[in-house]
Amino acid sequence: MKTGWYKDAVFYQIYPRSFCDSNGDGIGDIRGIISKLDYLKELGVTAVWLSPVYKSPNDDNGYDISDYRDINPEFGTLDDWKEMIAGMHERGIKLVMDLVVNHTSDEHEWFKQSRSSKDNPYRDYYIWRKGKGKDGKRPPNNWTSRFTGSAWQYDETTGEWYLHLFSKKQPDLNWDNPKVRREVADICNYWFELGVDGFRCDVITYISKAEGLPDGKFNPVMCGDEHFVLGPHIHEYLNEIYEKAWSKYDTMIVGEAIGCKLTDAPMIIAEDRHELDSAITFELMDVDMKWSFFPVKFNLAKFKAVQSAWQALPKNCWNTLYYENHDQPRSITRYGNGRGYYRKELGKMLAVSYMMLRGTPYVYQGQEIGMTNIRLEEKEYVDIMATRVFSLIRKIFPPLMPVARWAMSKRARDHARTPMQWEDKTGAGFTTGKPWMKINPNLGEINVASDLKNPNSILNFYKKLIEFRKGNAVIRDGDYIEYFPKNKKVYCFERKLGSHRYIVFCNFAEKKVALNIDTIPNSRGAKLIMDNWATQEETLGDAILLKPYEAAIYEIDPSADNG
Ligand code: NOJ
Repeated sequence: MKTGWYKDAVFYQIYPRSFCDSNGDGIGDIRGIISKLDYLKELGVTAVWLSPVYKSPNDDNGYDISDYRDINPEFGTLDDWKEMIAGMHERGIKLVMDLVVNHTSDEHEWFKQSRSSKDNPYRDYYIWRKGKGKDGKRPPNNWTSRFTGSAWQYDETTGEWYLHLFSKKQPDLNWDNPKVRREVADICNYWFELGVDGFRCDVITYISKAEGLPDGKFNPVMCGDEHFVLGPHIHEYLNEIYEKAWSKYDTMIVGEAIGCKLTDAPMIIAEDRHELDSAITFELMDVDMKWSFFPVKFNLAKFKAVQSAWQALPKNCWNTLYYENHDQPRSITRYGNGRGYYRKELGKMLAVSYMMLRGTPYVYQGQEIGMTNIRLEEKEYVDIMATRVFSLIRKIFPPLMPVARWAMSKRARDHARTPMQWEDKTGAGFTTGKPWMKINPNLGEINVASDLKNPNSILNFYKKLIEFRKGNAVIRDGDYIEYFPKNKKVYCFERKLGSHRYIVFCNFAEKKVALNIDTIPNSRGAKLIMDNWATQEETLGDAILLKPYEAAIYEIDPSADNG
């Protein structure tokens, strides 16, 4: 049943709350998405990953689901959703929904039942334990929530604790219970029947916890995850859902694979494993970030080493390529100078640096117009991650508050979640009402309307690049060869299928860089096919001078030369 369509796809991620508001309540919604389908088609993307639109009390903006089979009324109705997916399919765009099943909301009916008594039939849907100490008032182990603090919450009704690896309103499901796995398969099949083309499985690497739930390696910020990342039954459980649901339709299943290292990946994504089709991994994000929120210095050589290592995955494994999503800061600010010079060149260069790789690329809403991080006052952060970090530091060691503010100004998830900048007007063309979150004041300079008009915009560059990738066998299947791995300014690689080759230069520095390239075999005479400065030499010689943030793609296509 599975055709592997995702290998030719370019994805666009929609974070619905911040994408487009159709009814003026300040919150993006499904009818807003419908109104932008032609825009997506024009951009050339062929699949959408839609962040959760299910019923949710929004403790973590929809990643806490209270009903897996219905739409959150603030986003619209199931009929709106049906119209949206039909509109996508008409335009040749597939829809991949978020599947958040490591945990539910504490307002999900299962959890309400589960917490009500120890002998409730749903008790075992979640992970309940007695506390430590004589009175049982200490958490069962030292695991910490990914949002800081203990991962356990005491519940008065039954005097036991439940596990929540995220907020206390996101209790972890007990995947060791076969009934839970059946429920997950049923949820998938319900949406497949409605036409969904796949799922992005939220923190799917956390679903199997180690027997006995032993303490993790102590760390004052976040205790080790060694007892719940890729736990003892992960393969068995993924395979079970594959058999019962994912393999029954022509799907794409991409797992958010926190903690999955390069060496682990083939075990969950190799085609013959029948588990996931691909994984969103974090080694690249970890190059300049710790504990998902603390910035560490960017080092291009390390960054390239990670990309190159993943490009070398066995041929039966498929990569996910991304720089941004709703959890990551804006790549323009993260990898650039942050001062706005050369923003356009930088945005285009970054696009080339990942879109020319092997794997499925994801464009996160706003990335295609070069949206940036936002400057926020402490009280303006709304995301649970930032607000938890602030309240924890304030409680345990207030002198560290400036460090917390600095870290959030660089890495908070809020940066990705500011409303989409459609137009230069009040509400940014996102809403006619009061936006749920502050709009970035740079909307005058950065917005879709002006990018559409400007042939040299980042948006139009993305269009060209996406078009170029489509059906391009060298980009899809070609080998990857890296040059100058130690160079700290330039990322240079080749994609090669037979004798058809692309040589790609990406200058990550804000300065000019000269590179002697006579070590790249038989590259002399390669023809320039794309350049974000539009000033590069038409053919490649023995050296190249790259302007700040310049990206250039050269081609050697013997078949074209011959005829
Ligand atoms: C990963 C999601 O991308 C993130 O936004 C969410 O907070 C956690 N998983 C918990 O569901």
